[in-house]
Amino acid sequence: MKVFAYSYRKFDEAPYFEKYCKELGIELGYTEEDPTLENAHLAAGYPYISILLTRVDAALVEEFARLGVKMISNRLIGVDHVDVKRAKELGIRISNAPYSSNCVADYTLMLMLMSIRRMRQILRRNEMNDFTLPGIQGMEMANLTVGVLGTGKIGRTVIRDLHGFGSRVLAYDLYENDEVKQYATYVDLDTILRQSDMLTLHMPLTDENFHLLDREAFAKMKDGVVLINTARGPLVDTNALLDALESGKVGAAGLDVVEDEVGLYHHDWKNTVIHNRFIPLLRGFNNVILTSHKAYYTDQSVSDMVRNSLLGCYNAEHGLPNPFEV
Ligand code: COI
Repeated sequence: MKVFAYSYRKFDEAPYFEKYCKELGIELGYTEEDPTLENAHLAAGYPYISILLTRVDAALVEEFARLGVKMISNRLIGVDHVDVKRAKELGIRISNAPYSSNCVADYTLMLMLMSIRRMRQILRRNEMNDFTLPGIQGMEMANLTVGVLGTGKIGRTVIRDLHGFGSRVLAYDLYENDEVKQYATYVDLDTILRQSDMLTLHMPLTDENFHLLDREAFAKMKDGVVLINTARGPLVDTNALLDALESGKVGAAGLDVVEDEVGLYHHDWKNTVIHNRFIPLLRGFNNVILTSHKAYYTDQSVSDMVRNSLLGCYNAEHGLPNPFEV
């Protein structure tokens, strides 16, 4: 069977592609380029394509359908970058690639700790031999109520870790999970916003939760609340967040994702202008730690992403149940 991989990364994905293609008997075609209307023709003759976090809009989906693509298999969990509705209308199946939830959970905890211990300021001051104390007093995790929005696999792993730190944990999700109830108390959205000292987002982006944290939501939060987002940028209305940072409503933020990042992150723009104002504006606040969607990025996750994306194609080809189908 044949799979075509877009955005193929030689420096880290190649050994895993080699290993799993051999194991699954897959003939691989690839390009390091992201998929576009201009290079869609490369997928001709391949019923399965594997992609990363790159925009695949209706026009591109239609082009892939015309070329005979039967499945778009994501080497990641989220699928909000793909016009899934149009793909399904055209009979193209969509698959994702779950990976170890520890990678994002570890990074989330790191952002939490860095935010409440003012690590950005400490490191910046150190660079200038400024070893003073005012303005960098921290808080302790065990004294905080942490609100976890989204209790899927990653949210649950974060909750497990928070339990270890001794935090009081509140949880919000449309679907409650019994395992979570050992460590956290489910509450409604209003309560989690009002009672949490720190909020962390772990939900997929959907039409329903776009700008879940909008002006109204920020108004309900405690003064000085800490916001952590390792999920998707558009879950937060960034203009509302900027105002909340300016007013002190948000006391610190650790953001691995930002609105309008698709096509921007994971590329080098140092010699050009970036078309995203949120990035420089957020970076301008010394209580914001902004990273470029790297929470997932570990040896284990890259292996899982390649394997599960290929496995999704393999399952479809062999008529096997595909647990990764969206
Ligand atoms: C996902 O798996 O949904 C991610 O956000 C990781 C992606 C940037 C590769």
